[in-house]
Formats: sequence, structure tokens, C-alpha cells
Amino acid sequence: MQINKYIYSFRYDNTESELCKLESRCIFNKEEKNKFLISEIKAEPSRSAFIKRRLDIISFSKDYPALIADIKSKKIRTDGFKIEYLELKGDTSEYAERLEKLKDIGFCINTFPDYYNPTIIYGICCYEDVWYFGVLIKNNLIWEKHKQKPRSFSNSIDMNIAKALVNIAAQSDIDSSLLDACCGVGTIMLEGCFAGNNIEGCDNNYKVYRSALENLAHYQYSAKVFYSDIKDIKKRYDAVILDLPYNMYSAATDIEISHIINAAADISNRLVMVSISDLTNLISNIGFKLSDYCIVNKRASNFSRRIWVCEKME
Ligand SMILES: C[S@@+](CC[C@H](N)C(=O)[O-])C[C@H]1O[C@@H](n2cnc3c(N)ncnc32)[C@H](O)[C@@H]1O
Repeated sequence: MQINKYIYSFRYDNTESELCKLESRCIFNKEEKNKFLISEIKAEPSRSAFIKRRLDIISFSKDYPALIADIKSKKIRTDGFKIEYLELKGDTSEYAERLEKLKDIGFCINTFPDYYNPTIIYGICCYEDVWYFGVLIKNNLIWEKHKQKPRSFSNSIDMNIAKALVNIAAQSDIDSSLLDACCGVGTIMLEGCFAGNNIEGCDNNYKVYRSALENLAHYQYSAKVFYSDIKDIKKRYDAVILDLPYNMYSAATDIEISHIINAAADISNRLVMVSISDLTNLISNIGFKLSDYCIVNKRASNFSRRIWVCEKME
């Protein structure tokens, strides 16, 4: 029997909804719904821009007094604890009621709380008439330090998309080998390194390659970057991420894009590609099938990116 152990809550705006759903399909094999997901798969919230927090379930019940009795029976005695109420969609309880629930739990944990500097945060929530209690792990947002990376350029991808691309490529396996094959100044690599992914990069433009090295060194990440055309990379990877060059409307660039995709298909059976144009034909030409897809619109603009997940056909 499958036991759901973790509750995830999400935060994203309308332009990111499709991307967040694609990311959750890849990490959890299912889509978040109403910014909520329950799963047996454990993922660090900070590896995603969209996962707000994870509740590691200790106890659950449809019957609230039974939940309280069960928490009491566990004799939890952690000094410096704090309890938070997770408001999930469909939970109609009023503020005063939620406060009472927090007090109930506080009385089950018979030690001193610490609201400002807690050693552990517990959480309680109600979803579809079931009460859940557990340890709450929040997205630490430390990755936002990458906003101040020393080198950036006009083609750099947004950090939220960069994080999602790494997760879409790696799926639930943080150890899978990834190549950011058009790494530019390393925006995607920074997110992979932060999350502990096994990621390398390459770019054939010396200036941006140097910038990627500088950015990685700035945060003391030791991932390898190759100053190379992707066609000269021979090592195989579990997945290749391609944030394709944009100026795709000239014939020369179309040929270049096709070369890049062909070269990536030679070294991996899984490609995660970002483009502004339709890649359907190119994907079938290399003998791959599209396994997932989404569009990400840029906030307050007509610009949109397409994200293509494809796999080699057996
Ligand atoms: C859209 S930019 C990638 C931006 C990057 N994700 C970032 O945020 O910095 C595309 C990159 O592909 C690189 N590129 C183009 N053709 C390439 C090739 N054949 N092999 C490797 N890199 C290539 C370009 O130099 C450029 O840096």
C-alpha cells in the first residue's frame, strides 16, 4: 500500500501556473491542485521556486479529538517549538478557531515554545475533512542570493524557470547527471548546484563561458563548465537542458538550432528544451517523442517561452 507522508503547499502567480504543474508532474508524478499536493516522495522545498513548504506528517485523522489524543500519546517534548496553522483551500475555519487549534496542540507538547527563534516548527492543517499534524519545513529562499550574481546578460533565463528546468530534467532523482548545454552565464547551473544536483555546463561563446565560471566561483560551487560547442561533448548524461538561442527566425539560426538538438540527442535520451518557436518537427526528426510540454508567459508582456520535455523512442 502506498503511504502518503508529505504535504506540499505551493506559491506561484498566474503566468507560472503551467510551469509549476509541469515541475510537480516531473518531481512527484502528479500535479499539484489548488496549490496543494500530498505524496510519498520527499523533496526539499528550496529546490523549487514554487514549493512553499512541506509538512512531514506525524499524525492524521478525520476526527479532531482523535488527532489530539494521538499527538498526546507521542509524548513530544521538544523545547523551543513553534506551531503554525496551514490554511489550505477549502478550509473554512475562522481565525479564532485556528488559534484554538494551535493552543490545543501547544498543550500536547509539554515544553517551552519559542515563537521568534524556534528549534522546530510544527504544523496543523485540514484538507478534505482530514486533520494533519507534522513537522513543517519551509522554502528557505536562500537561493534568492543568486539574484546578485556578478555576471548576467540579456539572454539570461528567469531564476524560477531555471529552478523548474533542473527539476524537470532530474525528476525525483537528485543524483541524475545533467548537462546545461547552452549554459550562458550559468543561471540554470547555479540553481542545480544550490539544490545539490549533479550538473555540468557548456557554452561555445568564450565571454559567457568565463562569466559562468565567475558566477559559479562567486558562490563557491565547483561544477564543471566546458568551453565547447555541444557537438564536441562526448560524455553521456541522464538529461540535457537546452535553453536555445533566441534569434530563431533567420535560416542560419534554424540550422544551428537543429545542430544543437541533434548533438544533444547523441549524448542523452532525455531532453528538456526552452524555445520561442515550434520544435515539433525537430523532435520527431531526431527520433524522440514529446512526453510533456508547457508555455510560460512573461509577466506584463507578450513574450512567451515553450518548454519541451522529450525522450528517445525505444
Ligand atoms: C539563450 S542563451 C542561454 C542563456 C542561459 N540559460 C543563461 O541564463 O545565462 C543560449 C546560449 O547558447 C549558446 N550556444 C549557441 N550555440 C551553441 C552551441 N552550438 N554549443 C554550445 N552553446 C551554444 C550561446 O552562446 C548562448 O550563451
